Amino acid sequence: MAVDAGSPGSTATLSQSTRDLMTVTATNLLLEATDVSKTYGAVVALDHASLAVRPGEVHALIGANGAGKSTFVKILTGAVRPDAGRIVVRGRERTSQSPADARRNGLVSVYQEPAVIPDLDIRDNLRLTSTSLAGFRFWLNELGLENLDLSTPARRLPLASLRIVDLARALAIEPDVLLLDEITAALPANLTERVLHVVQQQGDERAVIFISHRLIEIAAICDRATVLRNGETVGVVDVAAGSEERILDLMLGEAGAALGEHAQSAVSATHRPEQVPRISARNLSDGRRLRDATFDLYPGEVLGVVALDGQGQDELFDLLSGAERPAAGSLLVDGKPVSFHHPADAIRMGVCFVAADRAEALLMQRSVRENISLPFSARITRWGWIDLGRERQKIDKAVDTLQIDARAGSEVRRLSGGNQQKVTIARWVASGVKTMLCFDPTRGIDIRTKTQIYMLLRELAAAGAAILLYTSELKEVQLVCDRVIVIFNGEVVAELPAGGADEAALLRAAHNLKPGAELPEAMAAGTATAKAAVEAAVEASEAAGQP
Ligand SMILES: Nc1ncnc2c1ncn2[C@@H]1O[C@H](COP(=O)(O)OP(=O)(O)OP(=O)(O)O)[C@@H](O)[C@H]1O
Ligand SMILES: [Mg+2]
Repeated sequence: MAVDAGSPGSTATLSQSTRDLMTVTATNLLLEATDVSKTYGAVVALDHASLAVRPGEVHALIGANGAGKSTFVKILTGAVRPDAGRIVVRGRERTSQSPADARRNGLVSVYQEPAVIPDLDIRDNLRLTSTSLAGFRFWLNELGLENLDLSTPARRLPLASLRIVDLARALAIEPDVLLLDEITAALPANLTERVLHVVQQQGDERAVIFISHRLIEIAAICDRATVLRNGETVGVVDVAAGSEERILDLMLGEAGAALGEHAQSAVSATHRPEQVPRISARNLSDGRRLRDATFDLYPGEVLGVVALDGQGQDELFDLLSGAERPAAGSLLVDGKPVSFHHPADAIRMGVCFVAADRAEALLMQRSVRENISLPFSARITRWGWIDLGRERQKIDKAVDTLQIDARAGSEVRRLSGGNQQKVTIARWVASGVKTMLCFDPTRGIDIRTKTQIYMLLRELAAAGAAILLYTSELKEVQLVCDRVIVIFNGEVVAELPAGGADEAALLRAAHNLKPGAELPEAMAAGTATAKAAVEAAVEASEAAGQP
């Protein structure tokens, strides 16, 4: 479906109307970027893109993976030089040669990847950017990380804490325009709530440019949204009830039309009781958070794992993938007891791990091809030969199936975030893996790519693979899983068929409440996001009203 340039209502495509608007109200804009272009070799990252931000607003920058969002942010904040374009801040034309320069112009960004030096502690990292300690501390408190020890080396902090450190550092500078590139993608629900709250408190004189693939966050905190597609600004939308559809249409263009059909792709019940499970976990424990995990994962199924933050799911995946060794319990693969001492042991048994944190899984300076072929290379050393032609074929097929935009493929770090994540999955697809352990694999992935990944997981399962999928997005469960197990306080407390696993049912199970039980009020303040808890409570009361 083509974008309708003349559509009425709250939406304006960036043709005549926006240009008119810009000339009339230019002086009222805090930031105005026009005709910004950037190419990398054959890749057009930005194509005459525009963005106009008013004081006091939270302005969403939306687009599919690779649409050019991060490039725009980097150009606005001096990290990347544009080929063309004009940037005006508070009525004055500004060119920023570096992030420090942009900072003097009032623009500060939290980039998509953590911007800390791993071997320095937090205090030294702050010193490098001459950040005010008092200001940093203040925002750290506001964001709920008051206990962070500043003498911790950055590399020892989990990704979520590093994101908060980056954010507190940016807030401490008190910029006119704060640019947040997928700040919430790697955060658990409670920290996301805090961040959204802080973003909303930025006052009438300042503005925030907010990037996220979660429309629910956009709807909750943004006033307007600029939509990018293939590097072009295709529309500016007032965010209000019902604007999601308009945003999706703009974002996906013609590709969007097919989306609904895929999303409804039916999920089949698969395993038969007489089958030998691919993986059996029996009373598995890591001696700390994971206390007693017992379940079976069958060939041909996608088994969902649902849990509130910190219930032992991280530890479960560590044990299954060979990253850690169990303290108690047993693990069977194809009915035979195994003990993994190292991830390589798991991989040898065909059990592979797809992490949410792609930086962990990728060799950033290497090519897409090399990253995907890593498991093949492991086989070269084992067997001493490899069929290069076949390898290339498999890799091409994986790149094709996942529709990885690999034009910038000479180094993985040049790919957009979503395309990087697809590379981590493509690797195992190409190697014909039998068991895939996916830990929140669609974090930071746009809705179209998500659908591709779901379809891929379903295809893999249909071809006989066994897939364990932990997801923090409860809506994904019904879309892709056959069954789901729920972990609470280190134990598997429930198993549901995915068909009955709507968000309310899953939330209730994740809080270890029996079906139909009331949700406690305290829950809203607890680990669940307040919004999710409220939704669940509403659903619960509706359900109670039915016979
Ligand atoms: N340094 C680079 N070298 C080559 N190509 C690049 C480079 N940086 C970005 N690109 C390409 O420019 C395009 C836009 O990338 P960008 O990172 O801006 O997308 P994005 O909208 O932020 O996507 P995502 O949602 O996946 O983070 C992509 O095709 C990407 O591969
Ligand atoms: Mg990006």
